[in-house]
Amino acid sequence: MTARTRSIGVDLAGVALATPVLIASGCAGTGKELHGLVELRRVGGVVSRTVTVEPRDGSAPPRIVESASGVVWETGLQNPGVDAFVATELPTLAAASSAVFVSIAGATLEEYVRITGVLQGRTGVAAIEVHLSGPDRELERPVLGAHADRVTEVVGAVARMSLVPVFAKLPGGVDVVPVAVAAARAGASGLTLCASPPALAIDAPASRPALGGTGGWLSGPALKPMTLRAVAEVHRALPRMPLVLVGAIVRYIGMFVGLFFFLIGGIYVAARWFAVTPLVVLERRGLGAALSRSGDLSKGQKRHIVNTIGLAAVIYWVLALGLQFAAVFLLRNLILQAVARAVFTILVYPVVAITEALLYFDTRIKAEGFDIELMTSALEGGDAAREPAAP
Ligand SMILES: Cc1cc2nc3c(=O)[nH]c(=O)nc-3n(C[C@H](O)[C@H](O)[C@H](O)COP(=O)(O)O)c2cc1C
Repeated sequence: MTARTRSIGVDLAGVALATPVLIASGCAGTGKELHGLVELRRVGGVVSRTVTVEPRDGSAPPRIVESASGVVWETGLQNPGVDAFVATELPTLAAASSAVFVSIAGATLEEYVRITGVLQGRTGVAAIEVHLSGPDRELERPVLGAHADRVTEVVGAVARMSLVPVFAKLPGGVDVVPVAVAAARAGASGLTLCASPPALAIDAPASRPALGGTGGWLSGPALKPMTLRAVAEVHRALPRMPLVLVGAIVRYIGMFVGLFFFLIGGIYVAARWFAVTPLVVLERRGLGAALSRSGDLSKGQKRHIVNTIGLAAVIYWVLALGLQFAAVFLLRNLILQAVARAVFTILVYPVVAITEALLYFDTRIKAEGFDIELMTSALEGGDAAREPAAP
């Protein structure tokens, strides 16, 4: 009998991805920045920061600020230029990740063509993503990719030259269907929907823009409904076109990972240091010694400790919440409610203290054979309180 394994791998326009998640352009930096935090090989792929023909120093700091609905950022597409990118960043990124999509930008048709020429046949390039949100120097338009005629020219030229699939990253905040159709007809293998829309953050106390580069782009939760609308419209117009979604998509994954580690970490700490209070009170130890001895006592008993603390927590919260709800329903006066809530909290707190004390004696009995005679001596302040019984 053979074991069946499930795969979440996808074929994205001919690019085999181990998972359907890509790290969006600019968010993994050069790959080095996430070293030790994210194992890039476990992600489906990484989109490089956007590279241009010439190196760019990027915009003045600050480059990223928080807003109520996400971050407003402007890097000025800082990058070392395509030649330095292929010589230094691409090999590192390709060695660390399972698939590299190289993001490219130009201000003229010729610039897009030159970059594609440098990338042509280059090992480690799984796909090209064409950034189209920058200004068009030739036609003097603020957003090159907002116009179907220009998308046809640029995406068409890149797609004709490229030996790997080409994805067009369409600008945010524009009428997306005409440019999506233009990119598809011009030969794009897939579409990335959508780039960050333009945004401005204000430093209110200073009465000036919060970013060094004045204007910026919005990323984060606010984009998700916009992305979903764009996806719905483009999918209706181009049902067979592979689509890559960007815009707050991985927020929930991050939140669940954070919550998971927070909970596991919290439970571990609670189980390890469960006996600190009784150790300080009954054995008159200092905090450092109590922490270390609590850790020793918990060895081999953490599951039992966690179960007991869990049960006590349920009892505590049922009592505390029950009494507090009763206070809110029975008392009309807000001050009386607050006083009653404080009194009830004090009344149910002994549940915590009793649990700690019981666990303390229970773990000592199991770990050190701490019997009733020694316990009496401990409570009377005898030496046995401090000395574990001989095995
Ligand atoms: C600090 C930062 C740098 C970025 N750099 C680029 C970039 O170089 N090229 C690009 O196409 N998008 C860039 N983006 C935009 C992201 O690729 C993505 O489209 C955007 O953040 C929306 O997705 P999110 O809300 O899931 O972050 C950058 C975003 C951030 C926050």
